[in-house]
Amino acid sequence: MFPTTLLTTLLLAFAVAANPVVVREPLVSLPMAKNFNTTGTLNLLQRDQARARQLVLSAERSLTGKPTPDIVGSIPATNAAVDYTVQVGIGSPPTTYTLLVDTGSSNTWIGAGKAYVRTPTSIQTPDTVSVSYGSGSFSGIEFLDTVNLGAGLIINNQSIGVANKTAGFGGIDGILGIGPVDLTVGTLRPHTSSSVPTVTDNLFSKGVISANLVSVSFAPTNSISSVNGELTFGGIDSSKFTGSIRFAPITTTYPASFFWGINQSIRYSTGTAILSTTAGIVDTGTTLILIASDAFARYQAATGAVLDNQVGLLRLTPAQFANLKSLFFVINGVTYELTANAQIWPRSLNTAIGGSNSFVYLIVGNIGTASGKGLDFINGMTFLERYYSVYDTANRRVGLATTSNTFATTN
Ligand SMILES: *[C@@H]1O[C@H](CO)[C@@H](O)[C@H](O)[C@H]1NC(C)=O
Ligand SMILES: *[C@@H]1O[C@H](CO)[C@@H](O)[C@H](O)[C@H]1NC(C)=O
Ligand SMILES: *[C@@H]1O[C@H](CO)[C@@H](O)[C@H](O)[C@H]1NC(C)=O
Ligand SMILES: *[C@@H]1O[C@H](CO)[C@@H](O)[C@H](O)[C@H]1NC(C)=O
Repeated sequence: MFPTTLLTTLLLAFAVAANPVVVREPLVSLPMAKNFNTTGTLNLLQRDQARARQLVLSAERSLTGKPTPDIVGSIPATNAAVDYTVQVGIGSPPTTYTLLVDTGSSNTWIGAGKAYVRTPTSIQTPDTVSVSYGSGSFSGIEFLDTVNLGAGLIINNQSIGVANKTAGFGGIDGILGIGPVDLTVGTLRPHTSSSVPTVTDNLFSKGVISANLVSVSFAPTNSISSVNGELTFGGIDSSKFTGSIRFAPITTTYPASFFWGINQSIRYSTGTAILSTTAGIVDTGTTLILIASDAFARYQAATGAVLDNQVGLLRLTPAQFANLKSLFFVINGVTYELTANAQIWPRSLNTAIGGSNSFVYLIVGNIGTASGKGLDFINGMTFLERYYSVYDTANRRVGLATTSNTFATTN
């Protein structure tokens, strides 16, 4: 059995009065483990940039129903540098798999590490399946099987991919894709125009959860591995955030509109504009905060940082860091502050990314393309470790709230 937390939440009303979501059940939350693996051949930035390029192609695939090539091709070793994973049981009796939690893709699949164990609940479908992630890819056969996400969260006949070929995944068995369902269009053959209901969709349509949403709690850590995250299906865990959840509608701008996309502007300190209001996404599968190259140049100028080509990140001297100001993200009229401490890689892990203890590395990176492309930023894990996030399918919106870590100086 996997550890589960049962949270008896009485009546939680979300902050937006016009469209409140009311949660009135014992919520089931799954613990998420954060793992850091430095054995890859790409640095953090290269890996995140490859993902950003592939995200654009994924939207194109879902729009047209036509497969897009894996832009990186075959990568010799794992590049899942930092990931958050959950333990998921599949089959009956279940085999437990370690799956990466990804809001930027929507297929759930296994077979990268541990092989699929067929049981009487396993049904093979006529479809093959393939998805590329930029820093990795898989292909295989689509099955239906019983998926057990933890106490009470059991889905019969969940469509899952069973990989017979994978590249770029180390230390995980597959992916739990909790992005919007449209992203699954174009992943099956021959049913290219079919979508594959996500685990969240099925939990909701089968009445297991009463709201079609998921919530994510991440937290900063100084260690290589730690169980410090939490994934909640169908509700929000009020013990994981402070204040209220503020929502922003999914952006209408393509290709961010295919993901948990929002409009956002960014400024540094009191007055320096970094990025004017534009579309991008919130994404648990990206480690850094990536911003369009012109915005990145403004950020670099404002901070006085130097690009460390080997590490892939901007770096400051300790004296420069002492002067680093907050970065402010404005989303749907609400300002989210990223303090100086929240803008840096944990200093105790500098050498783990090939850096030096004489410098302080910044977690804001260059997305690799100029702004105006419809995917001008990615608020990745390093952002989500400071803000609780809610992915609300039913109302097509993303929620954010401060946490006890928002202003913490752990890094
Ligand atoms: C899954 O669906 C198949 C038909 O596609 C059905 O025969 C089977 O009983 C279902 N299994 C469960 C566990 O609901
Ligand atoms: C994986 O399965 C598909 C569908 O049966 C098949 O076409 C393909 O050759 C297999 N690939 C490998 C590497 O076994
Ligand atoms: C890190 O990646 C390597 C190479 O893929 C893999 O063998 C190893 O199991 C991973 N380590 C952890 C702790 O996940
Ligand atoms: C986001 O920005 C785009 C481009 O300025 C605009 O058309 C749209 O109305 C904004 N809001 C949403 C929810 O997409």
